[in-house]
Amino acid sequence: MGLLLLLTSMLLSSDVWSLRGVDAQSLFAIRSISLSLEPGEDVTRDTNVTVRCTAVVSTSGLQPLSREYNISKDGTTIYSKTTSSEEDLLYPLPHVRVSHTGKYMCKISIEGKSQKSEVRRLRVTGLSPPVLQVEKTMLSEGEELKASCTAPGETGVIMFYFYEDGKEKQEERVKTDHVEVAFPLSGPGHHTIECSYRVLLTPDSILSEKSHSVRISVRELPFVPVLDIFPQYEVYEGDQLSISCGVQDTYHHFTSVSVYLSQGTNLLQHGQTKVNHTMKVLARDAAEFECRLAAGKVEKAVTKAVPVTELFSVPTLTMTPVEVFQKELMKLICKSDEVASKRLSSEDLTYSIDPHQMHLVEKDRGVFSGKALAVEFNYSCRARAKNIEKQSRILTVRPKVAVSVPKISVVDRAIIGKPFKIRCKSDNGSLPINYTLMFKYEVVAMVTVKVPSEEALFNVTVYKSEDINKFICEATNRRSGLGPLSGNLDATVIEPLSLPLLTVIPPPPEITEGSNLIFICSIRGTPPVTFKVYRSGYDLPLFTKTSAENNTSFEIHGLVKDHSGTYYFEALNHANNIVRSNSIKIEVRLAMWKKLVIGSFCLLALCVLVVVCVLCYKTQRGKKKGASELSVKPAYPKSDETLTMNLTHETPVYDTPTDAVPGYEGIEGRVTNGTRASVASLPPNTSYSVSAAV
Ligand SMILES: *[C@@H]1O[C@H](CO)[C@@H](O)[C@H](O)[C@H]1NC(C)=O
Ligand SMILES: *[C@@H]1O[C@H](CO)[C@@H](O)[C@H](O)[C@H]1NC(C)=O
Ligand SMILES: *[C@@H]1O[C@H](CO)[C@@H](O)[C@H](O)[C@H]1NC(C)=O
Ligand SMILES: *[C@@H]1O[C@H](CO)[C@@H](O)[C@H](O)[C@H]1NC(C)=O
Repeated sequence: MGLLLLLTSMLLSSDVWSLRGVDAQSLFAIRSISLSLEPGEDVTRDTNVTVRCTAVVSTSGLQPLSREYNISKDGTTIYSKTTSSEEDLLYPLPHVRVSHTGKYMCKISIEGKSQKSEVRRLRVTGLSPPVLQVEKTMLSEGEELKASCTAPGETGVIMFYFYEDGKEKQEERVKTDHVEVAFPLSGPGHHTIECSYRVLLTPDSILSEKSHSVRISVRELPFVPVLDIFPQYEVYEGDQLSISCGVQDTYHHFTSVSVYLSQGTNLLQHGQTKVNHTMKVLARDAAEFECRLAAGKVEKAVTKAVPVTELFSVPTLTMTPVEVFQKELMKLICKSDEVASKRLSSEDLTYSIDPHQMHLVEKDRGVFSGKALAVEFNYSCRARAKNIEKQSRILTVRPKVAVSVPKISVVDRAIIGKPFKIRCKSDNGSLPINYTLMFKYEVVAMVTVKVPSEEALFNVTVYKSEDINKFICEATNRRSGLGPLSGNLDATVIEPLSLPLLTVIPPPPEITEGSNLIFICSIRGTPPVTFKVYRSGYDLPLFTKTSAENNTSFEIHGLVKDHSGTYYFEALNHANNIVRSNSIKIEVRLAMWKKLVIGSFCLLALCVLVVVCVLCYKTQRGKKKGASELSVKPAYPKSDETLTMNLTHETPVYDTPTDAVPGYEGIEGRVTNGTRASVASLPPNTSYSVSAAV
C-alpha cells in the first residue's frame, strides 16, 4: 500500500517536473527595447561611438532565453547577434565618419516574438581635407595629366571632383577613399588643379572643402599651322586662288604632322606636313579657308577669309507690261544690276531665256519680246561672262484672258416703278472683272467680280418704259483702258395695269331680250393680261381670259331677263396688281314683238273702251247732258319708245306732267285705283299732250 502511494506520488511528481520544464522554455515577456548612442547623437569625426541596445525581458524560466539582436542603419541591417546573455548588446563604431550619419534602430526577436526600438539619429560632422597628388607638374601640349585625390579615412560612396582653373573638369564615383584619373589640359600655359569630394548619404550628401591647389605648366608644342592664299586682295569671282597649308618651316620635332585644308565644311585637301591647292573661286562660295594640323592628340588650326567680289550680280527677270493678256505682246527683261567694271564691260555679258523660247526674240541686250502664250509658263534667264553663268529666279507668267463682250439682261422682270436687277456678264475673261452699268452713257454703278461664283448685279428702277433701253454695261479686266461694251438692254418693261374700262354693246338702255350683248374690257398696261368678268353677287367669274393684248371682248347670246345685273371685270398682269373696272348695270327689256303684242292689245282695249263709251253715251244722251272724250298721243313718237300703261277704270283722270327728270321729260298718269305707270328714259325734248273732255 505504502509502496503504491510512493509510486503514484513519484509518477505525479515526475509529471509536474516535465510540465515545469515546458514552462521554463516558453514563459517570457519582452517588456521594452531601447537604443542609445554613446557618447551622444551629435559627434565629430573620429569619435569612438557605441550603439547600445537594451532589452528588458521578464521570464519565469530557469533556462536562459536565446535572444536575437538586429541593428539597422537607414533601414539596412548592419549587425546581428544571437545571445543568451541578459546584458545589453553593444555595437562599436570606432572612429566614426560622416558616412556613419544616419538613423539607427535595434530589434530583438525571441522565439518568434519581436520588438523594435525607437529610431535614433547619429549625426557625424567634419570631413577630412582631400589630398591631391599629380604625377608631373610640367607637361607637353597634348599630354594628359595623371592625378589622384584621396579622402583620408572616409568611408561610404564618394564622388571625387577635379578642377582646372576653378572649372570642374572631371568627376569619378567610387566606394573607396581614393581615385586616380588622367585628363588633358585645355592648352598651353599655366593651370591650377584642385580636387574635392562629396560623401553621398541618404538622402543628401556632404561636400568636402577643396584640396590644396597644384600648379601645372603646359609647354606649347612648337608647330604652327601656316595658311597662305594668293591673291588675297581684290579677288573677283572666277579668279584662280593658290592655297597652301602646312607646318611652319622651323619645325622638325615631330616626324609626322597631318594637314587638313578645308573651305567651309568642304575638305579640299589633306596630306602630311604641307598641301597645295588651286581653285577657281565663285562669289556664292563662302571663301573662308581653314588649315588644320594634327600631331598626336594636339590639333592646331588657322583660318583666313578671302573677300570675293562678284563680276556681275545674279540677273533679275522682269516683265512689261506688268500684266499680259493671251497672245498680246510682252517683253521679258533680263538684267544683272551690278557689273564689276574693272574686270568686265557690260558688252561681255550675254543673256538668254531659259528654257529657250522660240516665240521670244532678243530685240536688245537682255530684252526679249514676243507674243504671250495662252498658258501659264515659268521663265528664267541666264547671264554669262568669262565662263561664269548665273541664273535668275523663276518668273511665272500667267497670261490673262481678255474679257469678252458682256451681255446685259434683266433678272426676272422689269416693272415700272419697282426696283429690279440688271445682270452684266462676260462669258470669258480672267478675274477680277470690273463691270460698270451706264444709263445714257453715264456711270450708274460699278461691281468687281473676283470669284467665278460672283455675279455683277445692279439694282435699278425705271419710271418710263423707254428708259430700259438706255442701260448699257462695260466689262474690263485690264488695269487701265476701256473694256468692251454690251449692247443696249433689250427687255420689256411691264407697265402695271391702270384705267380699266368696261363697255357693252349695245349701250345699256337698249338691251332687249333675245339680243346679243358684247362686253369689251380694255385696260392700260402690258399684256398678257388676265381678265375676269364678274356679275355682282356671284363669286365665280362669268368669264376668264388671259389675253395677249390689253383688251378682250366677250359676248352673251340671246339675252333673257335673268341676265339683268351689274357687271364689272378684274384684270391682272405680270406687275401683279389686280385692278377692278367700273360697273355697268344691265337691265334686259322686253322684246319688240312682245311690245307690239302688248301695244296692239292696249290699242284693242282702247277701241273697245271707246266703242263702249260711245254706246253708253248714245244710250244716255237723253238722260244726261255732257259727254267725255280722251285721247293720248305723243307729239313726236318714236318707233322703239316704250310706253306702258295699264288702264283699268272706265273713267280715268289724268294729271298734267309732273316730276320732270332733268334731261328727260316724263309723264305720269294716276289712275283712281292707285296703279302707277311711268315712262322714263324718254329722249329729251319729247313732249306729250294729254287732254280730257267730259
Ligand atoms: C578609440 O578606440 C581606440 C581603440 O579601438 C583607441 O585606441 C582610441 O584611443 C580610442 N579613442 C578615443 C578618443 O577614446
Ligand atoms: C606646294 O607649292 C610650293 C610652291 O608654292 C612648292 O614649293 C611645294 O613643293 C608644293 N608642295 C606640294 C606638296 O605640292
Ligand atoms: C512654275 O513653277 C512653280 C514653282 O515655282 C510651279 O508650282 C508651277 O507648277 C510651275 N508652272 C509651270 C507651268 O510649270
Ligand atoms: C396696249 O398694248 C399695246 C401693246 O400691245 C400698247 O402699245 C398700248 O399702249 C396698250 N394700250 C393701253 C391702253 O395701255
